[in-house]
Amino acid sequence: MLVSATEMLQKAKAGHYAVGQFNINNLEWTKAILTAAQECNSPVILGVSEGAGKYMGGYKTIVGMVNGMIEELGITVPVATHLDHGSYDACLKCVEAGFSSIMFDGSHYPIEENIAKTTELVKIAHDNNMSIEAEVGAIGGEEDGVIGKGECADPDECKMIADLGIDFLAAGIGNIHGVYPDNWEGLSFETLDAIQQKTGDMPLVLHGGTGIPDDMIKKAITLGVAKINVNTECQIVFTEATRKYFEEGKDKVGKGFDPRKVLKPGYEAIIEKVKEKMELFGSVGKA
Ligand code: 13P
Repeated sequence: MLVSATEMLQKAKAGHYAVGQFNINNLEWTKAILTAAQECNSPVILGVSEGAGKYMGGYKTIVGMVNGMIEELGITVPVATHLDHGSYDACLKCVEAGFSSIMFDGSHYPIEENIAKTTELVKIAHDNNMSIEAEVGAIGGEEDGVIGKGECADPDECKMIADLGIDFLAAGIGNIHGVYPDNWEGLSFETLDAIQQKTGDMPLVLHGGTGIPDDMIKKAITLGVAKINVNTECQIVFTEATRKYFEEGKDKVGKGFDPRKVLKPGYEAIIEKVKEKMELFGSVGKA
């Protein structure tokens, strides 16, 4: 069932668990994540970055694929199609294409501009029964081979953005996208606690879920995190399983060259990884 992410995240925040956002890259990814969610009876958010949107043939293609799978695979758990780190224009495109949720990432703008653009998009999203996530405090990651340190958001700025009527808030707390460097200092729980004290019931979003130790994930959930984004980890297990297939020479046996066979180990690896995360986040059985 395609829904906005508002209700599932309000329930998660109240129930002290988190819903996973798993980014999709293609049909196999989408089918694996939906299958895992259904088997776990868990709500799920399918994240689509602008790059992945282009790669998959545009937002309308994705909406068609996800809606088709929900119907034909009999997916009854709540599913949201969510634009990840969208620009203003990409948000408008996803509204038009029929996504159920958007993230406007205005974290690189001065706070006044982030507020102005977020305000406009809140109205547009809600007029279309969609949920909207906004971001304060840029979340670092690898750019041109340099791994940036995750920023910590200013709790007062978080409160300003939260008060604009958004449905959930991403705030930097030392987290970064991709694999964490060995000298990473960990999440700033002090910042997270200050943010949740200012923003009350607002579900908070933890980006860069890959590689955050389980105990830190659990602690973040106790401090108001209700949505956790995972992307790189699924990519890693998919690629490892696919590499193993070739290394074992399976593509040379019988019709092992059939793409449906080639992609199967990676597909199954994503299902297992997503299930493991749903257990960790506490969303199993919460559909
Ligand atoms: P990772 O790739 O580090 O898991 O981050 C995913 C993410 O935050 C998407 O917005």
